[in-house]
Amino acid sequence: MSSISNRWPARMDVLQSASGLLLVLFVWAHMFFESSILLGKDAMLWVTRMFEGEPILGKPYPVLVSLVALFILTLLVVHAILALRKFPANYRQYSQLHRHLGQLRHGDSTLWYVQVITGFALFFLAVGHVVMVLLQPDNIGPYASSDRIWTGRFWILYALLLPVVHIHAAIGIYRLSMKWGVFPSERHGLWRGRIKLALYCIFAFYLCLGTASLATYMQIGYEHADQAGERYRPVGAH
Ligand code: HEM
Repeated sequence: MSSISNRWPARMDVLQSASGLLLVLFVWAHMFFESSILLGKDAMLWVTRMFEGEPILGKPYPVLVSLVALFILTLLVVHAILALRKFPANYRQYSQLHRHLGQLRHGDSTLWYVQVITGFALFFLAVGHVVMVLLQPDNIGPYASSDRIWTGRFWILYALLLPVVHIHAAIGIYRLSMKWGVFPSERHGLWRGRIKLALYCIFAFYLCLGTASLATYMQIGYEHADQAGERYRPVGAH
């Protein structure tokens, strides 16, 4: 009986790593689709229609986007619930952790703490974005997205979400590669340095790509502001 119940912590660890890996792969791919706006409004509209199944089904079905959002939301919730097990539970544990981190000055322990803080922030920022996609799948496109971002002021959410999600993703992949030992143990130090450097570059790349796309959506939204849908106009501005 006890040997069976003892397997659960290991199973939950595998599930947390697997859900984290899937989320990172999704977010990295998503950045390319969403930044199609850099190639022009038609390119972004084409990507939107593709996700709505138009090339295969003959007409767009935004509900397909909602199904993907529901799957991602489930992954986010599972990943967060599993992570909660490892959060410090009260003020005493927090202050002990702070003291240890200050004394140890151990890089990987500090990264773990950054992961706790960014993970906590993501639960609000990412869930907010995904719930919006889930409920308004037909409100995505070059003008719909730009109006939401500029007139609807969603740029504030994305300006926070962008760095936070990419810090969390990069540290997450670093920790996964350390934890599951995907490189030869005899050259551990060399690989640790290489992986860190690669993840710094990936982080910088996505930050630049995301900033350029966000600026483009804001510019289109600004130019289109007087035709933005009623839902984004401030009260009394009709
Ligand atoms: C089915 C799920 C998702 C869909 C369809 C989706 C779609 C989009 C779209 C179309 C945009 C452009 C702006 C807009 O229309 O509001 C966007 C922006 C963004 N999304 Fe998502 N998203 C999804 C999930 C996620 C998740 C899970 C994350 C991170 C945890 C995320 C992070 C971001 C970020 C950071 C931006 C702003 C990027 C920038 O600065 O250019 N998205 N998303």
